[in-house]
Amino acid sequence: MKVVVSIGGSVLVPTVDAGRVTGYAAVLEKLDDAGHDLGVVVGGGPTAREYIEAARDLGGNEVELDELGVATTRLNARLLIAALDDRAAPAPVTEHNRAKELFTHGDIPVMGGTVAGHTTDAVATALAEHVDADLLVFATSVAGVFDVDPGQDDAATKFESMTPGELVDVVSSIELAAGSNAPVDLLATKLLQRSGLRAVVLDGTEPAAIADAVDGTHDGTDVVPEEP
Ligand code: UTP
Repeated sequence: MKVVVSIGGSVLVPTVDAGRVTGYAAVLEKLDDAGHDLGVVVGGGPTAREYIEAARDLGGNEVELDELGVATTRLNARLLIAALDDRAAPAPVTEHNRAKELFTHGDIPVMGGTVAGHTTDAVATALAEHVDADLLVFATSVAGVFDVDPGQDDAATKFESMTPGELVDVVSSIELAAGSNAPVDLLATKLLQRSGLRAVVLDGTEPAAIADAVDGTHDGTDVVPEEP
């Protein structure tokens, strides 16, 4: 199966912890050994937020802050690359064509961010679209997609399964609420909608959840394209 995994920086590197990164590498290596083709995109997590906040205080503009964010995603990506040894390309891959080449030749491309203006969710979705992935896994710090932001409303209900159109609607309404956190960014949901990809959004704080998503035994939310 062709699988792209987006690992949030908040789950891979909540703090810099080699043991934690090893856990994710072990799951990816097992999937690689099982014959799956893999691409991975790593987020910036708390490191990105810390740097971005400091640079905002220093008067940086939004593009500068985004570029700082991209740099931290690549820093985190390098940790995963170190743990994956020779299975991964030796440096974070910075553009999708190169990632596709590596993917096609059986190496694991590990990307961070690319350019200002979106997040690694969108990078991962574009990579999945480019390699025509069978599955895109978003390993996030939330349990899946809820009808309303669970951080703001105790009555929030998790979707077991939803269409990309429903995901766009849910994320749009969450993004409009100040201080809310969408499980996946809006651009990624739009790319998902146009691509017809199958995706899973799950709590990735335990690395084994990624393997569960590939096996189809996960506890998150399936995003399944509508029948044409
Ligand atoms: P993340 O992809 O890590 O954001 O990018 P996130 O999804 O909010 O965080 P985690 O990792 O899942 O916890 C961090 C920041 O880097 C910039 C944006 O400013 C983003 O908020 N970024 C990232 C870009 O500008 N372009 C990219 O391609 C990726």
